Amino acid sequence: MRVVSGIQPTGDLHLGNYLGAIRQWVAMQDAMRPNDECLFFLADLHALTVSIDPRELAGNMVVMAATLLAAGIDPDRSVLFNQSRVPAHSELGWILGGTARIGWLNRMTQWKDKAGKNREGASVGLFTYPVLQAADVLLYQGTHVPVGDDQKQHLELARDVAAKFNTDFGMDVFTLPEPLVSLAAPRIMSLRDGKAKMSKSDPSDQSRINLSDHDDAIAAKFRKARTDPDPLPDDPAALEGRPEARNLVTIYAALAGKSVEAVLASFAGHGFGAFKPALADLAIARLGPIRDRTEALLEDRSAVAQMLSRGAERARALAAPTLRAAQAAVGLLP
Ligand code: TYM
Repeated sequence: MRVVSGIQPTGDLHLGNYLGAIRQWVAMQDAMRPNDECLFFLADLHALTVSIDPRELAGNMVVMAATLLAAGIDPDRSVLFNQSRVPAHSELGWILGGTARIGWLNRMTQWKDKAGKNREGASVGLFTYPVLQAADVLLYQGTHVPVGDDQKQHLELARDVAAKFNTDFGMDVFTLPEPLVSLAAPRIMSLRDGKAKMSKSDPSDQSRINLSDHDDAIAAKFRKARTDPDPLPDDPAALEGRPEARNLVTIYAALAGKSVEAVLASFAGHGFGAFKPALADLAIARLGPIRDRTEALLEDRSAVAQMLSRGAERARALAAPTLRAAQAAVGLLP
């Protein structure tokens, strides 16, 4: 098993990233067997596809790495690194640009959402973003890619790119990766709008719980979260048409490691006045220790930076054979 996944080092890590991705990364690392590898990276090259503040990007890298360590990524078992420190990602990305089709990229919903109506003004990188993402995974012969639901389409494209490349060049250079989407928390929604995804780029900080939030901020954000006036039902089907209520119950269930049915069995008939404080207490109990460990790790930023460089060194070695095989397949090597 080769587990590969990445996260953009822009903005703060939030509860959606944690429940949708990072928690699965840690679980897969902890279940690893002797010949398995887990590779997790900060997708700093992907961050360049929208406008960024260079100083903020550089500063974010160490904070995000520390947060991943605090959440349970163990650099002795997993390879944790910055994408840009492994040039093979860019090199393979360019090679795969010859395989991916414009029509495939035109269908990507993230491209449509992020470019909006101003496609002509969007960066070229934003359009070819999924090709680099395919390279990220294929470079390591990734078999399993734990991601939130919003990244599933990009992974399907990675499979298409791998299959077309293997067919076009008549060689099994790449493994077809499987996206693994968390059943408990495929898509955590904004606390202000149950129809919008919880996201780093939402201008309202009230829309998300950041992993750096202090206890009082977590409690206040849940207290102010948008809801409806009805009490909680006893049947999950009755959450249909109540996106905010469904989101809060999903968050509770995912944090508690319980099913939505079990959570509703405890809270049916109660209003949000009772549910929100219970949810806040649970979130503080789960996320508070991650925040405190992150703060402690950030007291020695150079140790975190060194850990990332060691990770990049290991990743470069793991990437080399596949990059060479792809170069040979297309005729770049004799
Ligand atoms: P990014 O940085 O947007 O998000 C990182 C991970 O968090 C998941 N996620 C969510 N899950 C549930 N609910 C949410 N509200 C939520 N928001 C984010 C994402 O699905 C993702 O798993 N393109 C990727 C980064 C990337 C990558 C890769 C991922 C680059 N190369 C190769 C996998 C494999 C991204 O922007 O994720």
